[in-house]
Amino acid sequence: MGRAASLIASASARRLEGKVALITGGSRGIGESTARLFSKHGAKVLIADIKDDLGQSLCKDVDSIGGTASFVHCDVTKEEDIENAVNTAVSNYGKLDIMFNNAGTIDQPKPSILDNTKSDFEKILSINVMGAFLGTKHAARVMIPAHQGSILTTASVCARIGGVATHAYTSSKHGVVGLMRNTAVELGQYGIRVNCVSPYVVPTPLANAFLKMDDEAKLVFYRYLNGAILKPEDVAEAALFLGSDESKYVSGHDLVVDGGFTIVNPDFCMFRTYDK
Ligand SMILES: NC(=O)c1ccc[n+]([C@@H]2O[C@H](COP(=O)([O-])OP(=O)(O)OC[C@H]3O[C@@H](n4cnc5c(N)ncnc54)[C@H](O)[C@@H]3O)[C@@H](O)[C@H]2O)c1
Repeated sequence: MGRAASLIASASARRLEGKVALITGGSRGIGESTARLFSKHGAKVLIADIKDDLGQSLCKDVDSIGGTASFVHCDVTKEEDIENAVNTAVSNYGKLDIMFNNAGTIDQPKPSILDNTKSDFEKILSINVMGAFLGTKHAARVMIPAHQGSILTTASVCARIGGVATHAYTSSKHGVVGLMRNTAVELGQYGIRVNCVSPYVVPTPLANAFLKMDDEAKLVFYRYLNGAILKPEDVAEAALFLGSDESKYVSGHDLVVDGGFTIVNPDFCMFRTYDK
């Protein structure tokens, strides 16, 4: 293993040692970064995605550096697929400690609601909200008897403010925060924590396709936190905190990773020092 072994954190630094995590949408983007970070911290990771080739090659990569990862094909809009993914985590690794409902998609921007179709709207809600609902439900199914667990869902800054993305996407991200809050109340009685992580724009295939930005544009897209550039790894770090026992009293929380984007009104701000 040599140099590669050093990529796995030392035993004392492993924050997810002995835990089992299931990550939907784990084949690329934020989910891929999270799979890599979770395994670096000692978790056994099951990646659930519709992109089989990418997911399987990621698992090989994780295994080659001393981690433990496997792949299961899963379309999060299909209950039988989610049920099978959760069952696979339990049969492969004996339990499920962390469920990360991360799979998501966005529709093409059509600024007028008059151009938005019912089928487009339903497709986005089906993946982003129904997927999170099914993931939460089936994770709860195996976590309730265990009286422990951490369920996370990737929401977005679009769950905080309007006007940033499409109607369907914005509705879906508001929806998953509502689902998170309601299930946090119910599942708390079993010691299960439920939270969201809400990133600003992260350079992934999803954001690149939606915003049609080149790399230069991305770097200057947001300027209130000078010098910091949001990367998938930063969102993974937030998920690591929420998945680990370090957040043992954090539940019902939407952890925003946005450099302060959602607390600023750029039209009425006295600190526009980076706006040059
Ligand atoms: N990139 C951003 O700027 C950003 C910002 C806020 C929130 N998010 C959210 O982060 C999450 C991850 O997005 P990303 O940016 O990494 O995008 P991405 O497109 O790079 O990755 C998304 C993954 O989800 C998978 N997926 C899509 N539909 C699926 C389905 N039906 N079943 C199973 N897997 C499916 C894809 O195959 C892909 O591997 C999404 O929920 C997205 O809404 C992204």
